[in-house]
Amino acid sequence: MAKLIVNTERKGAKINRNLYGHFSEHLGRCIYNGLFVGKDSPIPNVNGMRTDVVEALRHIRVPVLRWPGGCFADEYHWKDGVGPQETRKRMVNTNWGGVVEDNSFGTHEFMELCRQIGCEPYVNGNVGSGTVQEMSEWVEYMTFDGVSPMAEARKRNGREEPWKLTYFGVGNENWGCGGNMRPEFYADQFRRYATYVRNYGDNKIFKIACGPNVDDYEWTDKVMAIAGKYADAISLHYYTRPRSLAWDDKGPATGFEEAEYWTTLRNALWMNELVENHLAIMRRHDPEGRVGLIVDEWGTWYDVEPGTNPGFLYQQNTMRDALVAAITLNIFNRHADGVIMANIAQIVNVLQSVILTEGEKMLLTPTYHVFDLYKDHQNATLLDSWVETRNVGDDKVQLPNLHQSASVDENGRILVTVANLSLTDAETLELRVPGKEQAKATVRVLTGSMDAHNTFDAPETVDIADWTDFRQENGILIVTVPACSVTAITLD
Ligand code: AHR
Repeated sequence: MAKLIVNTERKGAKINRNLYGHFSEHLGRCIYNGLFVGKDSPIPNVNGMRTDVVEALRHIRVPVLRWPGGCFADEYHWKDGVGPQETRKRMVNTNWGGVVEDNSFGTHEFMELCRQIGCEPYVNGNVGSGTVQEMSEWVEYMTFDGVSPMAEARKRNGREEPWKLTYFGVGNENWGCGGNMRPEFYADQFRRYATYVRNYGDNKIFKIACGPNVDDYEWTDKVMAIAGKYADAISLHYYTRPRSLAWDDKGPATGFEEAEYWTTLRNALWMNELVENHLAIMRRHDPEGRVGLIVDEWGTWYDVEPGTNPGFLYQQNTMRDALVAAITLNIFNRHADGVIMANIAQIVNVLQSVILTEGEKMLLTPTYHVFDLYKDHQNATLLDSWVETRNVGDDKVQLPNLHQSASVDENGRILVTVANLSLTDAETLELRVPGKEQAKATVRVLTGSMDAHNTFDAPETVDIADWTDFRQENGILIVTVPACSVTAITLD
């Protein structure tokens, strides 16, 4: 038995629904074939967007989508992607496989995709190889309602009304693929570029500065010191690798050793420390906490699937990924007072995707199901929670067996999400929630072996099960959660 206690008297911050955001880049088959097939495709679509994919994304209530990169963002020139399709420039996607980018998916298509999904757009501008004027004009093109050269161009291209755009990133990974800048130089560039990212009418842009790579605390410190007062948020990138933390020390997405399960989860848990340390540095410069932390790239990064283009970053997705997602989203919930958005990389067919496609086929990954189990945390209020744990792992890595978070929504409904990391042992939870002793409980569970995954031939191998194996005794909910599982308990 493990006690799990939720304290309804100790409320935390509101969990920004944008913590459940996603990232889409012109990379491999994320945009092309994954999200967008074009109007003339035999694959069912609305204005070129895959109907099956859009429907699945609406189901998990994707709140925000980041685009066009990633490293691609700092080589992207937005004017190449607007206007008649036949005149759009063809370019080489130098970052990702050297393939031809025909720019058939551009600003109008991205905004249409967001409209269909029902999410907010988050556009990432080009600092590395773009000009201040280019960035400024992009924002004018998207948001200006009146007479101006860019607003006229937008109208000529078929869009009369400006779009609503809140989230705008000023560069991506400018410490690396976005220009190999030093923090002082980038911070000055941010000040300059951001000056010309204007608010038009009642459209207010939320300016996001490029933040650190993993544990580069010096970057956070310098960017906050020099540019913090001009930014609304700063972004952190951290990918979970299955072995060590070294960039090139990856491993397979399926068929991995048990030792790699433990190191992967250990590396995922490191997110907690990263978020806390970066927030602490940010608060030194900004004691009021005005500037938010956005983790706009996170997820697992393995070797690509054998036989696929190494530049396309296509990987399978197992229960191990589900555990990584569950842990990471619990961590974000628990830091809802400082982390205001997160975007898993990437939404379809790239890295830790929620959806994989192959031609007209589509499957939902275990990670998708975690987003489904967790979706009622969106905009709910964090509740203090505590779980009794014991260590699991092997002779090298020892981790707590359980990891949880809890929230209450505006109707008083409580959601508790729990990951059981153990590979061998089910755990009986004794859930106590004072004030909710008589509540109606619903339990949903995702489970399987660490390597369990969905394929196009067997797309429902890993799926959510409605769990009836629980009882309520003296106001305590007793439920046994299986080994290697993610559980969502709702109390109405
Ligand atoms: O998500 C893949 C890549 O990872 C992104 O383009 C880049 O920002 C990061 O290094």
